Amino acid sequence: MNLSTTIAGVQFPGCIMNAAGARCVTQAELEALGRSRACAIVTKSMTLEPRQGNPEPRYYGFPSGSINSMGLPNLGYRAYAKLIPELKRFGKPVIASVAGLCEADFISIATVINESQPDLVEVNLSCPNIPGKPQIGYDAEASERLLARVRKVLTVPMGVKLPPYFDPVHQEQMVPVLERTGVQFLSLINSVGNGLVVDPVSETVVIKPKGGFGGLGGPLIKPVALANVRAFWKLFGGRLPIIGTGGVVTGTDIFEHLLCGASAVQIGTVLVDEGLAAFDRLEQELAAVLEAKGYGSVEACRGKLKEL
Ligand code: DHB
Repeated sequence: MNLSTTIAGVQFPGCIMNAAGARCVTQAELEALGRSRACAIVTKSMTLEPRQGNPEPRYYGFPSGSINSMGLPNLGYRAYAKLIPELKRFGKPVIASVAGLCEADFISIATVINESQPDLVEVNLSCPNIPGKPQIGYDAEASERLLARVRKVLTVPMGVKLPPYFDPVHQEQMVPVLERTGVQFLSLINSVGNGLVVDPVSETVVIKPKGGFGGLGGPLIKPVALANVRAFWKLFGGRLPIIGTGGVVTGTDIFEHLLCGASAVQIGTVLVDEGLAAFDRLEQELAAVLEAKGYGSVEACRGKLKEL
């Protein structure tokens, strides 16, 4: 079974990688991804300075998903700039996830990280967990300003990690922004921001930062993820590659993302939960699903969702 895929001209040996944030902060974690069956190494979203992140507990898994408010714990972009050339020895694409606490940070980081030549840059316009900082992806004008400036300093392909949109008008408004700024791939979706999980036994919230509010992931967000993959696939007529993220737990979940138009998927909650063995299991499950369905490759079923 051919599970390889191509995104913005970059070839991937498979179609399942980690989502930014999941087991990808430290050198040891990134190298473990390199040795695993992950088809790429995606870094934690990096900021200018190293960050400890928010106080713990800041991640909580439950049967239908997860909630987190990590607060961008990361080594700082200088450390990742040094690591990226070393990570290339694993022979799979390296994707640098770039964040920032203000617009200027994104430009400074992108300028330096570009010199370390990651295969792709994923600009994170959708971190929901920094107190007082709105998700940039919900502001089309701010997104355009930032992406235009980042594009100018990059020579490697630029993609964007977007927040979930819940209204077709918001997706439509982003299309000209993404076109004008030369975005070459989309990662859809980031966590569903500012949810709240309650423990009725202890009568408490389950994570400490922001009074318990945090980004939701896992099975409970799959329909929102699929809807955003499908909507952008249709809006771009299938011409803009999409990495689907949200609710992947089984090979069938991946198949659904591919049918909606994804060229690859990222895994977050299930990777945190299950560890790197999730890549082996998911690859086998996806191969079995495609085989049973009579598809010979990822490419063959991409976007093939039927409407009634
Ligand atoms: C964090 C969470 C996100 O969903 C994101 O896009 C970036 C950072 C975090 O809290 O670390």
